[in-house]
Amino acid sequence: MIKIDVKGCSTFVTPEQSKKYTDKALEAFDVLVSGEGAGNDFLGWKHLPSETPESLLADCESVRDGWKALGVDLVIVIGIGGSYLGARCAIEALSGNFDKLLKGPKAAPDVVFAGNNLSEEYLAELMDLAAQRNTACIVISKSGTTTEPAVAFRIVKEFIEKNYPNPAERIVAITDKSRGALKTLATQEGYRTFVVPDDVGGRFSVLTPVGLLPIVVAGFDIRAMIDGAKEMEQKLAVKSADNAAVQYAAIRNLLYTELGKKVEIMVTYNPKFQYLGEWWKQLYGESEGKDGKGIFPASVNNTADLHSMGQFIQEGDRVMFETVVNIEKANRSVVIGRDEQNLDQLNFLAGKHVEHCGSMAQLGTKLAHIDGGVPQIEVSIDHIDSRILGGLFYFFEFACGISAYTLGVNPFNQPGVEAYKKNMFALLEKPGYEEQTKEIRKRL
Ligand code: PA5
Repeated sequence: MIKIDVKGCSTFVTPEQSKKYTDKALEAFDVLVSGEGAGNDFLGWKHLPSETPESLLADCESVRDGWKALGVDLVIVIGIGGSYLGARCAIEALSGNFDKLLKGPKAAPDVVFAGNNLSEEYLAELMDLAAQRNTACIVISKSGTTTEPAVAFRIVKEFIEKNYPNPAERIVAITDKSRGALKTLATQEGYRTFVVPDDVGGRFSVLTPVGLLPIVVAGFDIRAMIDGAKEMEQKLAVKSADNAAVQYAAIRNLLYTELGKKVEIMVTYNPKFQYLGEWWKQLYGESEGKDGKGIFPASVNNTADLHSMGQFIQEGDRVMFETVVNIEKANRSVVIGRDEQNLDQLNFLAGKHVEHCGSMAQLGTKLAHIDGGVPQIEVSIDHIDSRILGGLFYFFEFACGISAYTLGVNPFNQPGVEAYKKNMFALLEKPGYEEQTKEIRKRL
């Protein structure tokens, strides 16, 4: 289902180095599988695919069906970080590029996202849209206390309360089973709720209701997604130097530690995968970037970014390697026609699929970047669908656990995320932050 190819690194590393880091990754595999490593109270994601009950999938589908019966045509999904990026990644990957602009009846509501910024303009414009549509909302926060989604939800909640006779039938909350302001609010208001398991951190939660509910409401097959993830769970459970997650963890740690490659760029060649890069950046950035260590995860969407970041990647500071997500087959077909006049001089491409041009651009870029000192890892999938995406999510999560343990950090905490929040609360004069407010004012 997923193939990993590290031949694009072979001119940069020795067989001895490869063996050394494969052995390290295999040790880290044992730590992850044994559940004895740092942060081991957050390992619930490891068996999510094989342990997802049928009832959970059916519950998610019943929200979808209930909103369909109400004629809902816009669902606002509120969340940030791990409570947002997985769903957005899947929905963008599985949707048609122009679905929102197509005329005619739609099979599923449009899904839009909020609570991932504090832009007043964004929320005002979102309310303009909601006013024209039949609107429902999914609010997601594991802690139930995160400011950005809380602000967005207060505004969306007020809108729904003003405009619909029974607001509770249009709002679903996904949060902790017992803690947090969102849980209290949801209970009081009688919202339908789904639980984020205690032992699953935000960035590992795409295969919980955090991802599954928005994805199914958007019209996609979560059963196939879980099946694909389950297949991957079984494959990656086998300890072997051929295990794709071990291979990925080994090569990226080798490149980082031995060659000083401190930046990893996820490269995609399909605009639908732009948010795969965003999801992956959070997963690896928050999991590995701590204790003064970590590979900085960046992403580009080619060929667009070959015309913006291509120059730097080819010739700038040699700090990076690339992980190319290669899609072997396009789901649609467009063939370039012949033009008798040939004024654009493109007849040499007549009869060729656009995808063929894309593949040649990808291959040409790979060779150029290797020549320019940028090692290449390739992660290949056959095509984009729910099943394959489920497998891809699980692959990157499992590999992330191995990789972070190989690096020697706890993959499952994120202490650094608190620093900005403390300052923001002090500046916003949140009760309880009086001392920090005084301190911070002195610095301004
Ligand atoms: O991965 C994480 O834990 C974070 O990115 C969280 O998902 C993010 O901060 C949102 O937190 P919450 O779901 O508690 O609102």
